Amino acid sequence: MKREAVLIIDFGGQYDQLIARRVREHHVYCELKSYTITLDQIRAFDPIGIIFTGGPSSVYDDDAPHIDPEVFRLGVPILGICYGCQLMAHYLGGQVTPAQDDAAREYGKTRTYFDTGCRLFTGLPEQSVTWMSHGDYMARVPASFSLAAHSDNCPNVAICDESRGFYGVQFHPEVNHTEYGVQMLRNFLYEICGAHGVWTMGDYKDASIAAIREKVGGGKVLLALSGGVDSSVAAALLAEAVGSQLTCVFVDHGLMRKNEGDEVEAAFAPWPIRFVRVNAEARFLAKLAGVSEPERKRKIIGEEFIRVFEEEAKKIGRVDYLVQGTIYPDVVESGTGQAAVIKSHHNVGGLPDYVDFKEILEPLRLLFKDEVRQLGRELGLPEYLVMRQPFPGPGLAIRVIGEVTKEKLDTLREADFIFRDEVAKAHLEGTMSQYFAVLTNMRSVGVMGDGRTYDYTLALRSVNTSDFMTADWSRIPYDVLDAVSTRIVNSVPGINRVVYDITSKPPATVEWE
Ligand code: XMP
Repeated sequence: MKREAVLIIDFGGQYDQLIARRVREHHVYCELKSYTITLDQIRAFDPIGIIFTGGPSSVYDDDAPHIDPEVFRLGVPILGICYGCQLMAHYLGGQVTPAQDDAAREYGKTRTYFDTGCRLFTGLPEQSVTWMSHGDYMARVPASFSLAAHSDNCPNVAICDESRGFYGVQFHPEVNHTEYGVQMLRNFLYEICGAHGVWTMGDYKDASIAAIREKVGGGKVLLALSGGVDSSVAAALLAEAVGSQLTCVFVDHGLMRKNEGDEVEAAFAPWPIRFVRVNAEARFLAKLAGVSEPERKRKIIGEEFIRVFEEEAKKIGRVDYLVQGTIYPDVVESGTGQAAVIKSHHNVGGLPDYVDFKEILEPLRLLFKDEVRQLGRELGLPEYLVMRQPFPGPGLAIRVIGEVTKEKLDTLREADFIFRDEVAKAHLEGTMSQYFAVLTNMRSVGVMGDGRTYDYTLALRSVNTSDFMTADWSRIPYDVLDAVSTRIVNSVPGINRVVYDITSKPPATVEWE
């Protein structure tokens, strides 16, 4: 069967990644490419359908993104969304104008009336809610097109040219607020583009393995394994593809959670790879001794990590390929901005350029996070690794407030383990995005048995978030918090008080340092 791929042409809209998500949820492979893509590149991609995304521009702006109009002669169905719809109308003989008054400018949920005879709207009710966000509108519809939807304010909400397979919608079918958006995309993919929905993660795995083998040949491959989901899945994929040529370097900085280092090592034992675990706890703790300023801690750990990795890489000698666990949101994230540095993030991916290698491999660069997890399952990684919550590169060092010592780390490890264990017992894991314990630097008086204690306060932190840029604190049931607190205070020496952090981000951050 012909490869079935949809090309999404990116005109800078804020929901563009979501369109890609939605298409893949229908088991149709797609890629998001900049509007600067050439006609030859489009032909080479050989799409079964093309989607033009929305975007902030007006088609008449001097710097408005455009596309080679020959794209309309390829004989490939096209769905234009918002700006994409206006661009299509603009090129094919229609007229787009800025809405003169608020009447034609539409934002938010809008009651919309559909011509269900249009293939894009087959099987839908005649009216439903769509999500609009446009300032321009189509004053004149191109000659070959007919109107397929209108709203109370706007006569031209959707247009179609069934004979050529061209469809344009002013609203955003990809967002949840558009009631039947999923079905519209399904109609486009299946009824109009003729997709069969054959794309599965198993296929992706097989294709990736074949591509890696072809690329790498007999070369040597090096991968820095952090134990996080992305680098673990990348390692498993490479292990499956070119295991005997692969060396995974796992720098255990001694700042991992309880049992974590052993779990990572055990997960990779079945593969015939060279797995190097560098137990570097002592050198990390030595560097951190006496340091309590959060940014300095982060910098020290980031640098030391690179030093250790570099030493190991030198032992291996020249490597041909370095693997990074970059995933799709990292790739298409646009707008680098000039945002202030709140915390200098340390990522294992950002490795030094003085490691001697020929090329970087990024085998996950087209996958979203949940697809990465799915691929991990396909490769046989254990569920606890695949479903691992995000864990910061500097590890527990930024969850021990103030100076980091082995004793404090051990205390925190035990308490954090209990928190996670109680959450698991209460079956709450899936309801929280990230949850962990923080050992504060504060001591207070308590009473235990008949004696006075003067011990540390432990903070529990749990957040719910979709992107970790903003977050709300999780409403954990009181009885679960009670069980966690009681168990920690009774069984972890050095802690006599447990508090729950009820601050959102902003103004707080997820981690305490
Ligand atoms: P903050 O504390 O900035 O955390 O609100 C947002 C998310 O990022 C994680 N985090 C890190 N991840 N290296 C990472 O890979 C880091 O240095 C780092 N610092 C924070 C944090 O756990 C949360 O998920």
